[in-house]
Amino acid sequence: MANNLLKGKRGVIFGALDEQSIAWKIAERCVEEGAKITLTNAPVAMRFGKINELGEKLNAEIIPADATSMEDLENLFTKSQEVLGGKLDFVLHSIGMSINVRKNRHYTDLKHDWMLKTFDISAISFHKMMQVLWKQDAMNDWGSIMALTYIAAQRTFPDYNEMAESKALLESFARSFGYHFGEKKHVRVNTISQSPTWTTAGSGVKGFKEFFDYADKMSPLGNASADACADYCISMFSDLTRMVTMQNLFHDGGFSNMGMNPALIDMPEEE
Ligand SMILES: NC(=O)c1ccc[n+]([C@@H]2O[C@H](COP(=O)([O-])OP(=O)(O)OC[C@H]3O[C@@H](n4cnc5c(N)ncnc54)[C@H](O)[C@@H]3O)[C@@H](O)[C@H]2O)c1
Repeated sequence: MANNLLKGKRGVIFGALDEQSIAWKIAERCVEEGAKITLTNAPVAMRFGKINELGEKLNAEIIPADATSMEDLENLFTKSQEVLGGKLDFVLHSIGMSINVRKNRHYTDLKHDWMLKTFDISAISFHKMMQVLWKQDAMNDWGSIMALTYIAAQRTFPDYNEMAESKALLESFARSFGYHFGEKKHVRVNTISQSPTWTTAGSGVKGFKEFFDYADKMSPLGNASADACADYCISMFSDLTRMVTMQNLFHDGGFSNMGMNPALIDMPEEE
């Protein structure tokens, strides 16, 4: 259901790889709500992903950018403002990648040069992106910047591996840059901590099915879907949430506040 919540707004969406990507659903919802957007992803994703399909469907220009390259980011935000006809109202960071996870390295035996790459792609890219937006003065007043994260930043999920530290860093950047962006531009910066979701990045985590099923049972509302995440994101890009900033917002069906759930241990509740 569309309510024109983003009518007249301009935004940039990172991270739509295929129709399962959370960013894919968010991009579709943004356009449905009246926004004009550009799409971006790593140059390599242009070849094996389906972003071109999405670009055509949404009539959105695709501007490739490696999110670790300041030069690519400068080009992306300059071009996006040209194409969209003005400064930006919202930006979504939906990026994650770990070579150690991909190669199944155990947490006690990680390669640290790969770890640095993981931090650069999955977290420092958020700072790089905001630094370019800041220096170009590319955000409109009362704009909204958002990144997607996971609760392994606060609690231990052994198979999530070094992505846990990446997410902790990512969430910290939201708070620190959120202060500066708030003071100078009334721009808000937040992270949404999403339930496990079946995507290319998600299902790359070892034992993802167990991960997914456990969270689904533990959460009173069940796992939040990518579509539900898109709805939440729309509210965070809209003018209805202007005073929310520097927050890590759990979008997880209640998982983050559960201690134990009888449903999970097959123990009948007493009357
Ligand atoms: N799937 C889950 O269970 C889950 C849960 C919580 C949070 N998240 C987060 O949501 C975000 C999106 O992931 P997803 O699950 O939709 O998976 P996805 O694989 O569809 O998206 C990850 C994206 O990162 C992009 N990317 C990788 N390296 C890049 C680079 N150098 N420059 C630019 N882009 C690059 C990929 O091309 C891809 O589009 C990630 O931050 C992820 O950690 C996912």
